[in-house]
Amino acid sequence: MGAVLLATKPSGLAMWRDALLAVDPALEIRLWPDWGREEEIESAVIWGAQYLAELRRFPDLRLIVSMGAGVDHLVLPPGPPPGVPVARLKDGMLTQGMAEWVLLNVLRFHRQDPEYRALQAARVWEELPPPETAKRRIGILGLGEIGGAAARLCAHLGFPVMGWSRRPKDQPGIEALHGAAGLDAMLARSDILVCLLPLTPETRGIINARTLGLLPPGAFLINGGRGGHAVQEDILAALDSGALAGAALDVFEPEPLPPEHPFWVHPKVFMTPHAASFTIPSSAAPQVVENIHRARDGRPLINLVDFAAGY
Ligand code: GLV
Repeated sequence: MGAVLLATKPSGLAMWRDALLAVDPALEIRLWPDWGREEEIESAVIWGAQYLAELRRFPDLRLIVSMGAGVDHLVLPPGPPPGVPVARLKDGMLTQGMAEWVLLNVLRFHRQDPEYRALQAARVWEELPPPETAKRRIGILGLGEIGGAAARLCAHLGFPVMGWSRRPKDQPGIEALHGAAGLDAMLARSDILVCLLPLTPETRGIINARTLGLLPPGAFLINGGRGGHAVQEDILAALDSGALAGAALDVFEPEPLPPEHPFWVHPKVFMTPHAASFTIPSSAAPQVVENIHRARDGRPLINLVDFAAGY
């Protein structure tokens, strides 16, 4: 029986090993960089592109599982060893965390929390105009696993929700748009724009001066996708001109964001350090073990990355 190689930051290795063994105690698990005999490695479960070049040394590798949702870092050169399929995670807890983070920021902006905090700091007792849920239109870029969950959560609260995706998608209660015309139509009506897209050559820089300029004046931006989705200078310019009233950002380019970057101290920016959600090994382990078994038996794999589409 072949072995499973785990490669991630050292502090995560034991937790992943225990989570996989809890699902299948018979797995033979090796922890990077102690892989033992190279021809025994059958599957690799990794987080980060830094392992890809080394994976070429395992002649019988038949599966790579990436421990996250986004795979933009894996499609860049050198990429996975030729012919070895790559699966990613579609994990309920990861999705739940992202949807919660979106909701946190939707409500922060919708309920004028930044303004109330400023009034509190100034000891000013003042009511702001009441917000109307049914009038706060939310546009979500990306209607996949995570975008779809965030869209349903917001719609459930009574916000009008639109979602934009590459291909047409049907989601009950969500106005689905697609294509270039659909994008502009959605932006023009998005009081809160949320980005949960995969990062691909088509979506890189999708949040830019042009697209931000299409939003209704004083809109809000929530980016939980990747830093590369946004032209960061264009966000700053839109915040400073008032075109954007606020931005909640979890992702940056580069990460970590350098200490001198203006986002850190910008009064209209609400940052988290790529911490909107996490992969919890115990939650993700069943689908990973399922794929390990499938690869071993030569059965079709689940959650495969489509390298042509880039996600
Ligand atoms: C984290 O950013 C992920 O893609 O899972």
